[in-house]
Amino acid sequence: MKTNGNTILITGGATGIGLAFTAKFVEHGNRVIICGRREEKLKEAQIKFPQINTRVCDVSSHSDRETLYEWIKEEYPDLNILVNNAGVQRAIEFKEGINALISGDSEIETNFAAPIYLTAQFMPLLLTQEEAAVINVSSGLRFRAIARMPIYCATKAGIHSFTESLREQLRDTRIEVFEVVPPRVATSLGREPDVISGGIPPSDMADALLLALKNNEFEIIVG
Ligand SMILES: NC(=O)c1ccc[n+]([C@@H]2O[C@H](COP(=O)([O-])OP(=O)(O)OC[C@H]3O[C@@H](n4cnc5c(N)ncnc54)[C@H](OP(=O)(O)O)[C@@H]3O)[C@@H](O)[C@H]2O)c1
Repeated sequence: MKTNGNTILITGGATGIGLAFTAKFVEHGNRVIICGRREEKLKEAQIKFPQINTRVCDVSSHSDRETLYEWIKEEYPDLNILVNNAGVQRAIEFKEGINALISGDSEIETNFAAPIYLTAQFMPLLLTQEEAAVINVSSGLRFRAIARMPIYCATKAGIHSFTESLREQLRDTRIEVFEVVPPRVATSLGREPDVISGGIPPSDMADALLLALKNNEFEIIVG
């Protein structure tokens, strides 16, 4: 897969791993569009990388996903890479019942449903391109269930399974399907906004992704 001259949508591209992908893709001469819910984070990213385009979008919302697709189709008909990176992580205590599950961001909608629906939504556009890719960000926790984060781990196992099926299903097309499997990365995932703690630098994930795209290595396991 070429690593320059692409037009790329990165969900959750304004912070953490997504922002590192943004930086790396911009550095390599790609056109990058990022989306997320917080406008101030999108603006901060645009100050760092004035050449990118941004869009407020909640990927867990069906209507936001549809509007995003219609906008991209109109403004960036050459979009050829979809990076499903947006994610949330929560500790959920099942002994506290249903309220513990429904009281915050939905990991099921954001980490699992959104990449699947976005992939289906963007398929007509991706199928028209000479070279295209879907890049799903799962996690090292896809095969390691942690008691404190039961839904997060399940969504990442699910997205791994979906990615494998999709890769097989699209084998006779020009769309390649990649899975990025980060270890613990120093971002604010699962923490208060802007509280970053231990792990490898997000830029290491971006370096690994670029190398894997270049070499057509479809499963990118770091660490
Ligand atoms: N950090 C790690 O150790 C680690 C390890 C394995 C896998 N991962 C995965 O890597 C991906 C990126 O996470 P990160 O570590 O870089 O954390 P992060 O900095 O918190 O990034 C998550 C991004 O997703 C966006 N997002 C969350 N919910 C969204 C929604 N409903 N609609 C649109 N955007 C949404 C957030 O922006 P808004 O809040 O503004 O919407 C944010 O920009 C996630 O899929 C995560 O599961 C991370």
